[in-house]
Amino acid sequence: MNSPKVVVEGLCKVFGTSPKQALDMLAGGATKEEVFKRTGQIVGVHNVSFDVKEGEIFVLMGLSGSGKSTLIRLINRLVEPTAGKVLIDGRDVAAVPRSELTSLRRKDMSMVFQSFALMPQRTVLSNAAFGLEVAGVGKKEREKRAMTVLEQVGLAPFAQKLPAQLSGGMQQRVGLARALAVNPSLMIMDEAFSALDPLKRKEMQNVLLDLQREQRRTILFVSHDLEEAMRIGTRIAIMEGGRVVQIGTPQEIITNPADDYVEAFFEGIDTSRYLTAGDLMQTDAVPVIKHSMQIDASSVAQTLNGSADYAFVLDGERRIRGFVGRENANVQHIECIERHVALDEVVNRVVASPAPLPVVDADGSYCGSINKTNVLKVLTHHRGSHV
Ligand SMILES: Nc1ncnc2c1ncn2[C@@H]1O[C@H](COP(=O)(O)OP(=O)(O)OP(=O)(O)O)[C@@H](O)[C@H]1O
Ligand SMILES: [Mg+2]
Repeated sequence: MNSPKVVVEGLCKVFGTSPKQALDMLAGGATKEEVFKRTGQIVGVHNVSFDVKEGEIFVLMGLSGSGKSTLIRLINRLVEPTAGKVLIDGRDVAAVPRSELTSLRRKDMSMVFQSFALMPQRTVLSNAAFGLEVAGVGKKEREKRAMTVLEQVGLAPFAQKLPAQLSGGMQQRVGLARALAVNPSLMIMDEAFSALDPLKRKEMQNVLLDLQREQRRTILFVSHDLEEAMRIGTRIAIMEGGRVVQIGTPQEIITNPADDYVEAFFEGIDTSRYLTAGDLMQTDAVPVIKHSMQIDASSVAQTLNGSADYAFVLDGERRIRGFVGRENANVQHIECIERHVALDEVVNRVVASPAPLPVVDADGSYCGSINKTNVLKVLTHHRGSHV
């Protein structure tokens, strides 16, 4: 992949008149609350670093007040940093002259907010074309482009209607269309779906995911909802009190939450369905035998070494040739599971198999095994009391 779209380095924002004192306290390990008590300064964002890769949906998640919106405003420079920097396409945002900022925000970073005012007296088409109008694109061209995005979000039949004639969810889609129409290289969406009811919200997430599959846009998405973050995020950064406490893929965060704060987001959510074969597998539970070796009862017994019941037989490229058991030294065929297969399918296949199943990479090379115990553990741990 090419260089990151956005790079955030040591970014800090303290609201107040003496940020220096606050920064010193923070550097000494003080929390946002302690800084506020002692100095009256409000910590918005503290020492945040990450990068957003081209084509990924990067989700910022955290409780109210944790600094998500401030971080986003620092990125598009609606807020000036107290310390640290932001690079977009390798360019230092702080070095962009004021006169170019508006154009940078308009062309390169489209924002979609939770509530954005559609203009009530204008048609859906005219609303969708508004960003292009501001950018000085001629009427015919901008309406053509707006129509294309209205088709993408499923609103083409409503192009000539007024916003008030649409449901709330449809209005939200007009907002999305307006942001998409300018074809920004970075989309910034701050709680864009939060005001929608759960069904509409899921529908909008699907619209976004479909668009993402076709267009591979880079999207910075703020949400306080873990399930939304899990569904749409390529990676998630979890914020607490202005700091980023964990960054990872949904699977990484579920399998290895950094602390209790992160884990608390999982409360009441069935996180197991986000897990894959790769998350469940053990890498050293089943011994392996090279196919080149002579395989007979005594070599099998030696490999199993009294503890294991099965061994996998691998060829020179670490591909699975089959398995042997304590009772049967003939190489028998066994199905492999690809490591990205989702838990539900893993469960069905492991339960139906007498032996542990081998897990393989996309190229077919062996990487681990799953047995019934692994599956049971994960189901009881992640589904816990809400089965
Ligand atoms: N202009 C400002 N002046 C002073 N304090 C501010 C300002 N903007 C934000 N803050 C403070 O910075 C902290 C982070 O706020 P921010 O709006 O970034 O949180 P958030 O994670 O987006 O919350 P929410 O989920 O409620 O939108 C809060 O303590 C907030 O009170
Ligand atoms: Mg916010």
